Amino acid sequence: MPTKDPQTFTLKNNSNGNSWDLPVIEGTVGPKVIDVRRLYADTDCFTYDPGFTSTGSCESKITYIDGDEGILLYRGYPIDQLAEHSNYLETCYLLLYGELPNNEEKTKFVSDITNHTMLHEQFNTFFHGFRRDAHPMAVMCGVVGALAAFYHDSLDINDPHHRMVSSYRLIAKVPTIAAQAYKYSIGQPFISPRNDLGFAENFLHMMFATPAEDYNVSRILCKAMDRILILHADHEQNASTSTVRLAGSSGANPFACIAAGIASLWGPAHGGANEAVLIMLNEIENINNIPKYVNKAKDKNDPFRLMGFGHRVYKNFDPRAKVMQQSCHEVLNELGIKDEPLLDLAMELERIALEDEYFVERKLYPNVDFYSGIIFKAIGIPESMFTVLFAVARTVGWISQWNEMIEDPTQKIGRPRQLYLGETIRDYIPLKKR
Ligand code: CMC
Repeated sequence: MPTKDPQTFTLKNNSNGNSWDLPVIEGTVGPKVIDVRRLYADTDCFTYDPGFTSTGSCESKITYIDGDEGILLYRGYPIDQLAEHSNYLETCYLLLYGELPNNEEKTKFVSDITNHTMLHEQFNTFFHGFRRDAHPMAVMCGVVGALAAFYHDSLDINDPHHRMVSSYRLIAKVPTIAAQAYKYSIGQPFISPRNDLGFAENFLHMMFATPAEDYNVSRILCKAMDRILILHADHEQNASTSTVRLAGSSGANPFACIAAGIASLWGPAHGGANEAVLIMLNEIENINNIPKYVNKAKDKNDPFRLMGFGHRVYKNFDPRAKVMQQSCHEVLNELGIKDEPLLDLAMELERIALEDEYFVERKLYPNVDFYSGIIFKAIGIPESMFTVLFAVARTVGWISQWNEMIEDPTQKIGRPRQLYLGETIRDYIPLKKR
């Protein structure tokens, strides 16, 4: 496509010589976009971009990724600065409202979220409908969707106050639901949230305390958990966030939209990768087997991929993985784990893959999920809960993006088109003639 001038792209139909000038729009940073909204009306053609590798689906002011430089910004703030200096609830405020809160705003926000952590009592009955061996992500999809059946007073998506109440409810209640899903799976009583604890500490308390024994959480483990939550809080227009936006574009309520996001996150190419990394490391078992698995990952006839490697946008180190790697060492030190075979295995796998031509050529680096599973394991969180934790952290990103979409005056229902390759029109054939 030749460029006519910096602000338009000229599209030419070589079969009839017609041409069209398509407007080019510039963001504050990042690649320019060609505005193709009038393309079908003007040219009778659609664009074709399965996997949306070249398609921007919305305007956003929330999160920015520079995949070549390995940069991730929330509202302009670099992820490593937030991971070091901020905490999860402050980051939630930033994502929702666009600015860091002052002292008064922060105190009020923390208190408002904390006051929404409990679930309606009827949820206890609801949980008991699930099999005990259900995957907790299946429970999450069902129970988060069911919030809409309990909190009717905040379902008017056209009312900004309703939208904010639903947003606070989701940020506050999803951790309670996650912890209850875990308790249910191991047959322990649900542990109520404690409003005198911080967000991460309260989550660990709900996961690991029992009515017989309290759970004293170390400061380092709380900090590590809080940092993991910050690192996963938002990530631009990934599969689950786009799912939330698409579901919400029809006017669906926010609880239903977040349940849709959780369903999308569950897949192993997305949030399910952190669980898949641990399963893979256990399968590789020891350092001597690494070359065999690296070869499997390179073999195009083998569906196996190195889990925790590669990213659609990052073609340089995932900045979240760097922080995660450091946190991983801190957590293992704090717990006095001198020798963690899985960490040794992970580090050796990373070293071998990063020197391998296949991975170098394709710019496949470790992503956020590569180290998070080892930290979760060290804290005592079972593998089936890894993706649930991702969902807990990402709820604020999803709901911030959903709010931004609802407030966008140009927002319309999302409705992609297709390249149809099926049969053309034909007459029905009666059964006896087939
Ligand atoms: N192992 C081996 N080969 C890989 C891998 C991998 N993990 N990832 C990509 N490739 C190869 C792929 O086979 C292809 O090779 P070729 O060009 O020869 O056909 C090339 O690299 C490009 O891959 P792609 O599938 O076209 O890239 P994508 O942008 O569609 O996929 C991805 C991105 C993350 C789904 C993919 O890298 C992957 O499956 N990684 C493993 C799963 C994973 O760790 N997911 C977590 C992503 S980060 C957390 C999140 O945001 O959810």
